[in-house]
Amino acid sequence: MEIVLSGIRSTGRLHLGNYYGAVRNFVKMQHDYQCYFFIADYHSLTTHPKPDDWKANVKQVLCEYLACGIDPEIATVYIQSDVPETFELYLILNMLAYKGELERTTSFKDKVRQQPDNVNAGLLTYPVLMAADILIHKANKVPVGKDQEQHLEMTRNFASRFNNLYGVDYFPLPTAFNFGKNLIKIPGLDGSGKMGKSEGNGIYLSDDAKTVEKKVMRAVTDTGPTEKNQKMPEPIQNLFTILEVVSSPDTVEHFRKQYADCTIRYGELKKQLAADINRALEPIRERISYYMNNEEVIRKVVNLGREKARASAAKTLREVREIIGIRPF
Ligand code: TYM
Repeated sequence: MEIVLSGIRSTGRLHLGNYYGAVRNFVKMQHDYQCYFFIADYHSLTTHPKPDDWKANVKQVLCEYLACGIDPEIATVYIQSDVPETFELYLILNMLAYKGELERTTSFKDKVRQQPDNVNAGLLTYPVLMAADILIHKANKVPVGKDQEQHLEMTRNFASRFNNLYGVDYFPLPTAFNFGKNLIKIPGLDGSGKMGKSEGNGIYLSDDAKTVEKKVMRAVTDTGPTEKNQKMPEPIQNLFTILEVVSSPDTVEHFRKQYADCTIRYGELKKQLAADINRALEPIRERISYYMNNEEVIRKVVNLGREKARASAAKTLREVREIIGIRPF
């Protein structure tokens, strides 16, 4: 059976990008594949070395995961730091990762710009830890957004170097996955770039209806099209990209036509967009508060996940040591 794995950092609440880029795909896959879904709390230390409140952060993300529809009885849901086998594999994979390729990684270059005073080795080897997360369960499919594509390519490189070096066909070569489509990037509401946790341009799954409305109404637009069938500038294209994931094809078509013949009113478009986002989020919001108020349920999920994830990880690590030739002395 094919194995699916995906993860999310423990910094900050989940936003629409996380949901439509990764989590929703995962929820759809959990019945047909063996699925692992985890919270990357150690990865977060690369940017937040002193988490304000580790437990509260992990709990929030975990509750939001579950609220999206992940069933912990079917999928294995766990916390990265609960599975130390991952970090031994990370060490091994580091011997197969080259400084030059790590320095050329887009996410590394972005972080160097964002935090020039803390360019730590953890940032440099971020893709290696990510590869270890994936390969420790020998996953083949990884539901992620477009921003993670390069990391997946690097994972395949490390995996095939391992296979070649030791003359085995052991690790699969995992691919980034989105249901039947290209990987997606949900844009932010500020007119450019992607929706991100640290950008302040996002709509969070836990935002209430009024907050969503306010954020959407404030989204950057222009003065409107002046010529028929003119090309959309980026901020308007961004609104349509979000509309495409939350609204019906008819709604999208309706506003596209209006844009093309210059009759569009951005106020109406935004009202519809906010209403459709709220319709999508309403059931998730309710379930977030259910889980947030049921710590006992969450604790059980974490314990069960740890047990299942460690069993799978320990098996891989035993086999990897055996392949390398590291055996009890
Ligand atoms: P993170 O926490 O930044 O994001 C979690 C998931 O959400 C997707 N995503 C988006 N998709 C579309 N549009 C957006 N604007 C958007 N923003 C975020 C991300 O692509 C991701 O799938 N490195 C990972 C966490 C990680 C991981 C892994 C993922 C660690 N190990 C192993 C998969 C497998 C990250 O920072 O995701």
